Amino acid sequence: MLFRIKRFDGEKEYWSEYEVEVRKGMTVLDALFYIRENLDGSLAFRVSCRMGVCGSCAMKINHKPRLACETQIADLKSDVIVIEPLDNYKVIKDLIVDFDGFFKKHAKVKPYLIRKVENYEKPVELIQTPKQLDSYYQFALCIKCGACYSVCPASATRKDYLGPAAFASAYRFIKDSRDEGKEERIPEVACDGGVWRCHFAAECSEVCPKNVDPAKAVQKLRWEAVKHSIRSLLRW
Ligand code: SF4
Ligand code: FES
Repeated sequence: MLFRIKRFDGEKEYWSEYEVEVRKGMTVLDALFYIRENLDGSLAFRVSCRMGVCGSCAMKINHKPRLACETQIADLKSDVIVIEPLDNYKVIKDLIVDFDGFFKKHAKVKPYLIRKVENYEKPVELIQTPKQLDSYYQFALCIKCGACYSVCPASATRKDYLGPAAFASAYRFIKDSRDEGKEERIPEVACDGGVWRCHFAAECSEVCPKNVDPAKAVQKLRWEAVKHSIRSLLRW
């Protein structure tokens, strides 16, 4: 099977081609390791868990963002496999892109439980019902692979746009019954580069390997932002 891989050496882009003998059950990640270990030791790609959990191996495979470790070559039903780095990120080398901006935007939405009073001396158990867990569980499945951001038209055109993964994370914590940080988190997502800039192309939900549905999170956050504005007006 022919693998065409887009390369970048820090100065110029070019394409490399490799013939790989494909075995039954082989993933795209297996093929990349085969290439690096047997054909070209200079090929750079990012990987960690090899089991669809860490989000490190997202890349464009036959023109669609996918996790290389979860993509069976046989399922692609193609004689040529084209591999490129994710769009909307600066490429560092070959298939490795710079996630710095992605994680900075994620940090802006305060992706952690916020409590008004923390009592570490006498910790209390925060009980949650299965129904309360259900209200945000889908959004907690995000593995920060960045695939959603790579297909988002708003992310492509605005550097300050927070992006689908950050919104999914914000909604995950806003809906968590143990969280008390909604009032400080909503202004972060309703800012100039926030949810109102979404074009609602919904490509993010289409490509998400974990079915997180960030487009749904954006719609829910818009409604939360409206309610927040009404609450602020009534207080005033
Ligand atoms: S929402 Fe989906 S596509 Fe986006 S970073 Fe999370 S897991 Fe990846
Ligand atoms: S290597 Fe962790 S998700 Fe693919």
